[in-house]
Amino acid sequence: MKTSLTKIWMYIGSFSLRHIKAFPMELYDLLQECQPFYRMLKRHSLTAIVSKLELDPVLPLEKNRKILVWVGGQLVPREDAKVSVFDSIVQGGDGVWEGLRIYNGKIFKLDEHLDRLFDSAKAMAFVNIPTRDEVKHAIFSTLIVNGMLDCVHVRMTLTRGKKVTSGMSPSLNLYGCTLIILAEWKPPVYNNSSGIRLVTASTRRNSPNCLDSKIHHNNLINNILAKVEGNLAGADDAIMLDVDGFVSETNATNIFLVKKGVIFTPHPDFCLPGITRRTVIDLARERGYTVVERRISITEFYTADEVWTTGTMGEITPVVEIDGRSIGESVAGPISTKLQGYYAELAENEGVSIPVNDCL
Ligand SMILES: Cc1ncc(COP(=O)(O)O)c(C=O)c1O
Repeated sequence: MKTSLTKIWMYIGSFSLRHIKAFPMELYDLLQECQPFYRMLKRHSLTAIVSKLELDPVLPLEKNRKILVWVGGQLVPREDAKVSVFDSIVQGGDGVWEGLRIYNGKIFKLDEHLDRLFDSAKAMAFVNIPTRDEVKHAIFSTLIVNGMLDCVHVRMTLTRGKKVTSGMSPSLNLYGCTLIILAEWKPPVYNNSSGIRLVTASTRRNSPNCLDSKIHHNNLINNILAKVEGNLAGADDAIMLDVDGFVSETNATNIFLVKKGVIFTPHPDFCLPGITRRTVIDLARERGYTVVERRISITEFYTADEVWTTGTMGEITPVVEIDGRSIGESVAGPISTKLQGYYAELAENEGVSIPVNDCL
């Protein structure tokens, strides 16, 4: 036993190609069993050698360093929360996802998010999808073990699952879907008081001709490219146009404008039909505002009285500048401020309660 272990450590520890040779397969199972022990040793010995900063970058919120994450049916510590290299999400971004927010012990719009998750999975022809109850159980369990009942964001991902060998075809996916529930402490991510600055990206939002934005999939490269443009321009996010040059949304949120008291937002043809977008439209109409869904040009946004973005992660965010043009008075406008209040009240009072006492 001692000799076998020594051989394994020697093998793992040899970095120079000169020492690499075929792994003795009779030790494979032992190697696998030793992995947790090896990781522990590595963590303890290497932190002394390699700079702490390199190993552990500063997190936006330090208390997210020790969280438990649901991956493929298990709750595991953050550092062990991994998917297989055979998983479709690694091989082709072949997954669907939802962002959820937790307010005051409740999950806001849980059923709407689950509907969209299952619709996306169906559109992508996933098979062996977990049931709605199984997904809910995973979400509740993750929130309860982490003691997360407020000010929390959940990134829920459902991949097509592991493949039996690398390749594109879903016929290689014989293990069933992989469900990931990543819950983090996270206040709204934008400055919702003083607002944000946007630029227009040259990267276009997907057309339904290519990839329908009604599927909430993980193939986010075009949005990421737009975000890169935003970052390079020093903006908070980037507006994406559709193939005909009309505004679709930002790289991460839906977008609204106000002109002479009327609220406008693009049709959800090239943008995600956002759940916050729907909620804001309903809230505004209930309060007597006219909301028009139509194609909108970027010029109309430049000359709007107010602009804001919507999304689960950031809620309702005033936009004070687009491509160097001031929007309104360059401060949060009166209608967006009112809507923020209505939204906060709804989120505080509505939602599916987390069954703290009877889930596990
Ligand atoms: C591209 C994009 N637009 C808009 C949204 C906002 O959608 P929701 O309000 O459902 O969170 C998201 C959120 O995932 C998104 O990724």
